[in-house]
Amino acid sequence: MSFFRNTVWFIKGLKEYTKGGYTSASKDFKASDLDVDITGRSYMITGANSGIGKCTALAIAKKGGTVHMVCRDPKRGAEARQAVEEESQNQNVKLHILDISKPRDVARFAQNFISSGKPLNVLINNAGCMVNTRTVSSEDGLERNFSTNTLGVHMLTSAMIPLLSKQEKSRVIMVTSGGMLVQKLNGSDLQFEKMNPFDGTMAYAQNKRQQVVMTENYAKMYPNIHFSSMHPGWADTPAVRSSMPDFYEKMKTRLRTAEEGADTLVWLALSESVHTFDSGLFFQDRKPVSTHLPLAWTRSTKEEETTFMEKLDSISQQFLVESPDS
Ligand SMILES: NC(=O)c1ccc[n+]([C@@H]2O[C@H](COP(=O)([O-])OP(=O)(O)OC[C@H]3O[C@@H](n4cnc5c(N)ncnc54)[C@H](OP(=O)(O)O)[C@@H]3O)[C@@H](O)[C@H]2O)c1
Repeated sequence: MSFFRNTVWFIKGLKEYTKGGYTSASKDFKASDLDVDITGRSYMITGANSGIGKCTALAIAKKGGTVHMVCRDPKRGAEARQAVEEESQNQNVKLHILDISKPRDVARFAQNFISSGKPLNVLINNAGCMVNTRTVSSEDGLERNFSTNTLGVHMLTSAMIPLLSKQEKSRVIMVTSGGMLVQKLNGSDLQFEKMNPFDGTMAYAQNKRQQVVMTENYAKMYPNIHFSSMHPGWADTPAVRSSMPDFYEKMKTRLRTAEEGADTLVWLALSESVHTFDSGLFFQDRKPVSTHLPLAWTRSTKEEETTFMEKLDSISQQFLVESPDS
């Protein structure tokens, strides 16, 4: 089954996820969708110093929004923040340092942001990684792909719900990957202890499936916030070059630019028309698309999803830090 799924997925990718796929899909885009003034609205973007995240931060800053760039490396973050500020001429571009793979830091960061009294309209969970050797943090015992792509995202999103709920038409956007189409949710091996041999590409695809399931479940849990997940296509970014060197070598002439990869993310963050779609959907090139390949047996049951979400909550609980007021 996995050979069938992978083959069908790759053929689909060649047609839809490449630069050619973007060029073809973009003929239907409405330029007026991005003709918005978002002055006064506030956007938080994780992994905003590079690739798709940086392009998105810049596009939002150019439209006048307040941008909170969440980056793990102080130097790379500061350089990116300055570049975004200079190119957009927007003075409301802020930098926050956070390694999202560190759950205690995620909890502390969220708490500090909330106590600062700043509003938040849109949260963009963009930071992501594909670590090809199974790596477990000595600090908290968590496998790195899981802690970055799934647990950190869940903790940040859950912590920000009360803040987002205070705003009209608030949104959460998850940058997932079409790679998730080859995986069924597996909530019984969150840290890939039973994956033998360990395969970073499949661990990443599993995390990206988890993000789609999380988005669908958040949409049901929090009807006052609009949730969506999206696939950028195959875009030329540092992550693709460093984590998938063979794929990059084969595909480099056919990859989208980072801006093209960011297009649907920017559209989901800015366009008013997003609210005409149900919450919880998965988007590709500004359209909702299926979260499953035909005949791929990747659908999970409600019980499997509930158990998965409960496990995330239970692991998160271990890392919550005490509030300074308590
Ligand atoms: N490019 C594609 O073809 C493609 C396809 C499907 C999905 N995606 C998704 O798109 C998103 C953006 O990736 P990209 O392609 O734009 O790659 P990128 O340019 O390498 O960006 C990844 C960003 O995530 C940050 N990040 C990674 N681990 C982090 C951590 N522990 N804490 C905080 N930030 C962290 C990186 O920070 P550093 O600079 O410090 O490493 C970087 O800013 C990812 O979620 C990726 O899975 C990309």
